[in-house]
Amino acid sequence: MIDGDRVRLRHVEREDLPQFVEWLNDPEVSQGLSMVTPLSMAEEENWFDKMLKSPNEERPLCIEAKQDDRWQLIGNSSFFSIDWRNRAGELGIFIGDKTYWDQGYGTEVVRLLLHHGFSTLNLFRIFLRVFEDNPRAIRAYEKAGFIHEGRQRQAEYHDGQFHDVLFMSVLRPEWAE
Ligand SMILES: CC(C)(COP(=O)(O)OP(=O)(O)OC[C@H]1O[C@@H](n2cnc3c(N)ncnc32)[C@H](O)[C@@H]1OP(=O)(O)O)[C@@H](O)C(=O)NCCC(=O)NCCS
Repeated sequence: MIDGDRVRLRHVEREDLPQFVEWLNDPEVSQGLSMVTPLSMAEEENWFDKMLKSPNEERPLCIEAKQDDRWQLIGNSSFFSIDWRNRAGELGIFIGDKTYWDQGYGTEVVRLLLHHGFSTLNLFRIFLRVFEDNPRAIRAYEKAGFIHEGRQRQAEYHDGQFHDVLFMSVLRPEWAE
């Protein structure tokens, strides 16, 4: 368990999959994730089986938020494509329960992952990619300390047009300050 103030990160269980499928089939959630075709339960089970064989450090984590006295599943986050020689990893997140958006949960999860990535996994550079038309995500990443470092022009196509993909990162010394 990775504990924060209002959120905690735990391993994914097979029982979580139907909830993920429901969220990932919501266009408002999936648009920022480049998931353009509907997702089936069979595909999600396939993802889960593959995930169990992936390195520990790259296994997705369920995001739970404290609601009164119980923990409520609200999304999923992970590091992936970790490059151990360069000590760099990419971060991904979605909060599927939209009633939790815009209350600082995303920022808190990203801060928690930065702490985990730097002080437990011993990473030096944590980066992410985000579409330019996802201001909510960009703002959350900026609040958590991510710095804009570049853009891939017109690299993502959705809603009938091309969009730039922004690259953002945090280096360990910046985080440590
Ligand atoms: C992106 C995501 C993780 C952010 O989580 P969150 O809990 O909503 O984020 P936070 O509340 O911490 O921060 C959001 C910030 O964006 C701001 N915001 C929301 N809509 C905005 C808009 N249209 N323009 C500018 N800022 C906006 C909020 O006001 C808040 O900033 P503030 O605290 O300064 O007021 C979540 O919305 C999500 O999972 N979205 C769907 C999947 C996705 O896009 N994932 C990211 C892929 S890169």
